[in-house]
Order: sequence, then structure tokens, then C-alpha cells
Amino acid sequence: MHICATKQDLRRVLAELRTTGTIGLVPTMGYLHDGHMSLVRAAQAENDHVVASIFVNPTQFGSAEDLEKYPRDMDRDLAMLRDAGVAAVFTPTPDIMYHPDAQTIVETTDLANKLMGALRPGHFRGVATVVTKLFNLFQPDRAYFGEKDYQQVAVIRTMVRDLDIPVDIRPIPTVREADGLAMSSRNARLSPDARAAAPILWQSFDMARDLVATGATSDEIKSAIWTMIDREPLARVETVDIQDAITLDPITGPIDRDIVILLAVTFDPVLLIDQCVIPAQKDLT
Ligand code: PAF
Repeated sequence: MHICATKQDLRRVLAELRTTGTIGLVPTMGYLHDGHMSLVRAAQAENDHVVASIFVNPTQFGSAEDLEKYPRDMDRDLAMLRDAGVAAVFTPTPDIMYHPDAQTIVETTDLANKLMGALRPGHFRGVATVVTKLFNLFQPDRAYFGEKDYQQVAVIRTMVRDLDIPVDIRPIPTVREADGLAMSSRNARLSPDARAAAPILWQSFDMARDLVATGATSDEIKSAIWTMIDREPLARVETVDIQDAITLDPITGPIDRDIVILLAVTFDPVLLIDQCVIPAQKDLT
């Protein structure tokens, strides 16, 4: 496996790989888990070569503390990618990634600033900018992202459409622990008690599915989820959003189309997000 610390190295390795087939990119911030490895497996099924990046992108963090505390284990990550058969990994530092006088940003103006974007100002601008840079550097045929970060996938799809970036975006279903908790690098920062309580997010989706089946309105579902999670003393609900699964516009009243429920819940100090798509009930459409 090639480990490329500089853009020059990366470009040289990719030029070589490209002569023998297609390239699938798995962008990551490291501290890999089976969710990331499911992206690698999906990329392997569809491409001749799979390449990855490990870069904890400072521009998408709201506070220096959150950035500093983000878990890291480069040696373990590289071993996992090597064992999985990944061809090359890009491991830049922030100084390599960003020019000291960098002035250019990429922002999906509407999508970036609603929902999770309103909770974390600047986050999706940081994501869109770094992912554009990764697409320019790797020029992959396909790029793989977890569906858990539902709004991130929507932002990246929109940016690729608007900027005519020639890459196929492939969202991959969320991988969960046995108790339903979505795999995330942030789970490593949960206290044992918070880890035990965190599957409440998944349990609230089960309740929401039942409520949709009985014809509950969006407001009723939202308030039931909020109440259920709020009863857990270690959890602080940040947002419960029920949106159109395609446009991410808010839904009011009865559920007459496919919806996505987007949750952001803090188990102090760790912010967890999760999502669940629920199809419309047939007799309402
Ligand atoms: O989902 C992530 O890990 C990050 O947001 C990404 C896409 C690698 C950009 O830094």
C-alpha cells in the first residue's frame, strides 16, 4: 500500500494506478471502524483500485477543543486499510492540505446552513471545501460516503452537481453495533454510562416507525422522539428534524412521502448524529 504524505506523491501514485483501471475513493478522518470498512468493501466491489484519505479536517470543526479531542490512531488505521487491500492512502497534515494564504471556500448556500448546518455554523462549508480539494487531487471515478451523515451526502451531491465535478457519489447504509448504535469514531469518546444509554437514538426510530404506521403527524412524531430521549438523564437533545427524504425540506402534517428523521443528541461532551429513512404509508400517498 502506498502511503502518500504529499500531494506530489499522491498524484504520482494515482497516475500509475489510473493506467490499469478505475479508482474508488473513501475519504475519512481516520479512527476507522467497520462503518468505514463497509465503504472500502463497497468501493472494492465497483472499482479496480480503492484509495483512501485520512485527514482530520480542521475547517469543519466548530471549536479547537472538539478538533483536539477527535480520536486518532494512524498506525492502526493504516494496518486496517493495508489488510483490506487498499492501494494508496493520502495522509496530509493541515499545512500540506491548505495553502497558508488559502482564500477559496465551497458552500452549498441553502443546504449548508439549515438543520445540522444551523447547529454547527461553518461545518458543511469546511466539508464541501475539503471534499472538493480531495476530488481535485484524486480525480476518482466514484467516491463513497456513509448515509449516517445524511445531510453531508446531500451537500456533496449538490456541490458535485453544481460544480460539474465528474465523480459518482455512492452513499452506503449505516453500519450499527448489535444494540443499534450507529458506528462512529466519536463513540470512542463516550463514557461507559453514555455508551450504554446511546442506543436510545435507535430505539426512538423504532417508535417513530410505529407512529408513522398509525398515521401520526410529523409534529406528533417529533414530540414523541424528543420526550423519549429527554427522559434519558445523560442525553441532551439538540435537534429532531423530520424532513422530505429527497429535498430535505421540512414536513408538516401527515406523512405523505418518504421522510428522513435527523437526530443530533449530546452525551456530554460528545455530539452524536443519526438518521433513519421511513417510507410513506401507501394509503396516504
Ligand atoms: O465524513 C467524514 O469523515 C468527513 O466529513 C469527510 C467527508 C472525510 C471530510 O472531511
